[in-house]
Amino acid sequence: MPVSDQTQPVAGPEVQAAVATALAAHGAHGEALIPILGEVNRALGYLPPEAVSAVAGALRATRGQVHAVATFYSLLSVQPRGRHVVLFCESAPCHVVGGREVWQALQAALKLAPGETSPDGRFTLLTTSCIGVCGVGPVVVIDDDVHGHLTPAELPALLERYA
Ligand code: FES
Repeated sequence: MPVSDQTQPVAGPEVQAAVATALAAHGAHGEALIPILGEVNRALGYLPPEAVSAVAGALRATRGQVHAVATFYSLLSVQPRGRHVVLFCESAPCHVVGGREVWQALQAALKLAPGETSPDGRFTLLTTSCIGVCGVGPVVVIDDDVHGHLTPAELPALLERYA
């Protein structure tokens, strides 16, 4: 959906603080857009419209430009996500070493389809392309933790670790 630059959502104190911290850490210049958005996303759990607007204003970019970046990268989100983000690698090298079975078991264990968040706000399930650790496939990333050589049988115990 196109983002209008006409109405500027006003950032509350929490958003202002998150954006200010990220700008201080990375500098208010366009080359730092992705790390800035990443840090704001981590602080707030997602990138609400007022954060997109505040970052755009600080970098002299349009909201549309910042929104486009925020919606391109799977680790960034303009929608609220669960407390834990589960990323399944769907690329071929993981697929051929058992990824298909792990993927089916993961969806069943979470009772989620890709892009969905559990009603209790615990998990959001997403897919990703190769993250560069094909040697330990199949791979699932939960928050910042990479879990490799996974089998369907290991999933329930693994997910239990993320309360
Ligand atoms: S294909 Fe899954 S990490 Fe590379």
